[in-house]
Amino acid sequence: MTPREMAPGVFSVGVVDWDRRIFDELVPTPHGTSYNSYLIRGSEKTALIDTVDPATFADLTANLERLGVEKIDYIIVNHAEQDHSGSIPAMLDRFEGVKLVTDQKCRDLLIDLLRITEDRVVVIGDGDTLTLGDRTLEFIIAPWVHWPETMLTYLREDRILFSCDLFGSHYATSSLYVPDEGAIYESAKRYYAEIMMPFRASIKGHLEKLATREIALIAPSHGPVYDRPAFIMDAYRDWTGDGVRNVVVLPYVSMHGSTRAMVDHLIAALVQRGVMVQPFNLTKTDTGDLAKALVDAATVVIGAPTVIFGPHPQVVSAVYLANLLRPKTRYATVIGSYGWGGKTVDTIKDMLGRLRVEFLEPVYVQGYPKEGDFAALDRLADEIKKRHEEAGIIPA
Ligand code: FEO
Repeated sequence: MTPREMAPGVFSVGVVDWDRRIFDELVPTPHGTSYNSYLIRGSEKTALIDTVDPATFADLTANLERLGVEKIDYIIVNHAEQDHSGSIPAMLDRFEGVKLVTDQKCRDLLIDLLRITEDRVVVIGDGDTLTLGDRTLEFIIAPWVHWPETMLTYLREDRILFSCDLFGSHYATSSLYVPDEGAIYESAKRYYAEIMMPFRASIKGHLEKLATREIALIAPSHGPVYDRPAFIMDAYRDWTGDGVRNVVVLPYVSMHGSTRAMVDHLIAALVQRGVMVQPFNLTKTDTGDLAKALVDAATVVIGAPTVIFGPHPQVVSAVYLANLLRPKTRYATVIGSYGWGGKTVDTIKDMLGRLRVEFLEPVYVQGYPKEGDFAALDRLADEIKKRHEEAGIIPA
């Protein structure tokens, strides 16, 4: 993307990756992404905030050439992950004398991951500042945005927060600023779910730290810039808060229709009781959509058939992911069908050890569900409704 000026002497010089469809070989990116990098020209010094994915280094240098940049004094490294740091070695070769400015943990990771030498790094601490002449950069150490070394950079005179992954979205757009708050809300929520949800407590702390600061723009390292910062900060407060919604997330697999019959019955029973349901057929589901749904759902019901003696492998994968992401879900259980035996329910329960959930009575039946099994699903729907009423998220 061509350079765009955000404030006098402050430019977005990063790259839009329209075609990227998988990130870290893990996270689907249906809307592409961007690797944002920002150039700040002070009256005495020039700084670059983060670089770009190394595969797109040529696009970053083309943007710097378009702006006639011949010298960079500092590269501010907010995060060591390679989609932002990966072009640093090439930048050090190209801009002689440029110094990397970052925190101690990030310095160690840069040395470890990118073979950067110590003499190229200036280490800063929380609250430290760096002057560029008429501009001042202030550093805010913010560990565990999703790695231990993350930090944010605040440009005081222009009140711009360079937040790196925090507040980001995998969303390719030609617009510098948020083009559509509805679309960006969904992408940012998905992004939060995929990488930040396990660190909800840390993110909450960072939000509190930022609350008293005047912020005109939030410039993340993925997706468009927020010219209405309250929009994304309010969304983050909601996602990281303790509140849950009157929703049952229902990931399932059905091999021969028995589990599917139970899923369909439970959906109808829950809807009749005023509980919303988001089912995900795991043989067709985008895992990012499932992660996003887990951000604030009160309950998860896992629909799992037994394969040989345990859960279907695609259920195992989804349960493993949910356990890693550690959503604030309050209630969980399993429904499904087996042929002749197995330990599906116990295996799933054991896999959810990181979640602080109350485990409701499962409905796990042999073969195709019978009348009594459907009645048990109705009782499960009653139980879920009762729990949601007690949590104050469904009208009594
Ligand atoms: Fe966008 Fe954690 O890197």
